[in-house]
Amino acid sequence: MKRALGLAVTCVLLLAAGSSPAQQLMPAGDPERGRLVFGPCRTCHYPEAAMGHNNGPNLHRIFGKVVGTQPGFDYYSEAFKAAGFVWTPELMFTWLENPMAMFPTSSMMSLGVPDAQQRADLVAYLMQASVREP
Ligand code: HEC
Repeated sequence: MKRALGLAVTCVLLLAAGSSPAQQLMPAGDPERGRLVFGPCRTCHYPEAAMGHNNGPNLHRIFGKVVGTQPGFDYYSEAFKAAGFVWTPELMFTWLENPMAMFPTSSMMSLGVPDAQQRADLVAYLMQASVREP
């Protein structure tokens, strides 16, 4: 069941990516601009390892991790715990356009970042900020 859900999510993501390639292609991101886009996310998330979890899970080195599995964070929704995909920059870019559309029962209260360039900047910031420390 977990696996089936994970596959379903992957399919939805692939479909979303395929539906309008021109729009969904991730533009080049600027981490400095992305730092500002991340401002509202910081209410709930820290990208620095030393800061630990907040209202949301820590985002240090989030890329390459399986969604909803970080030790010590106790507030994952059932949807996230069952999703089973690995975070890539492209997946995060697609998901953040409208997080609640993809996971209506998610416990993450965020409208996401509708603007594609801002989203790419945000992803670039997270890639940089979440690997700076060992
Ligand atoms: C109000 C608090 C809140 C805000 C604001 C918020 N998040 Fe979250 N975030 C959460 C929670 C809670 C979860 C766990 C969701 C679930 O399990 O359904 C989560 C999950 C995530 C995950 C998956 C982590 C994992 O371990 O799989 C990522 C990535 C993420 N958020 C990024 C962001 C970004 C980027 C923003 C800003 C656009 C943002 N979040 C805004 C609370 C928040």
